Amino acid sequence: MLKIVVCVSGGGTNLQAILDAIDSGKITNTEIMAVISNNAKAYALERARNHSIPALCMSPKRYPDRAAFNEAFMEKMKELNPDLIVLAGFLVAIPPAMVDAFEGRIINIHPALIPSFCGVGYYGLHVHEKALEYGVKVTGATVHFVDKGMDTGRIISQKAVYVQEGDTPEVLQRRVMEEAEWVLLPQAIDDIANGRIQLPEKKA
Ligand code: GAR
Repeated sequence: MLKIVVCVSGGGTNLQAILDAIDSGKITNTEIMAVISNNAKAYALERARNHSIPALCMSPKRYPDRAAFNEAFMEKMKELNPDLIVLAGFLVAIPPAMVDAFEGRIINIHPALIPSFCGVGYYGLHVHEKALEYGVKVTGATVHFVDKGMDTGRIISQKAVYVQEGDTPEVLQRRVMEEAEWVLLPQAIDDIANGRIQLPEKKA
């Protein structure tokens, strides 16, 4: 059984896609141990509670500085000790020490075709604003492993989505979620849980 922790910051539609895929059997062999948000008001936490999954808030604002937050976040993750950490719309940088401790065991969903529209400042709706501003005709989503850079880790899967005449950032965001994100992220988790994607040895 693959034990996962899902980290979220907002509405949690990607978390919902994971929950639905577990319920419907599209994801097998997987248990969500906890959902962690940096934002106490994130609706994603409600989605977790509705599924009787422990929902925790770890906000940097509750700590004197980023180093203290990083330490507490790391402590919590070590205590949970998941097999896989899934960043599903998590807008806080993962502490480098956590990347080391969970090397090759953290995955992220990004709402564009990396290496386009990614890196510092490219998150959430901004990604789609930039894609429309540039005038690309195809965008999409990417699932990738997390390393110490911003959106630079090894790509696991990608799916293209067409931009349509008259798209607003909100309309495009929704289409990318429906056609790409909610498909790719559950699929990647199921592939990992069932050995089609291999993870490195777990560190002690
Ligand atoms: C998703 O579109 C996800 O790809 C994006 O935030 C949104 C969260 O939505 N993540 C990033 O931009 C990370 N760089 P959700 O809370 O409804 O899943």
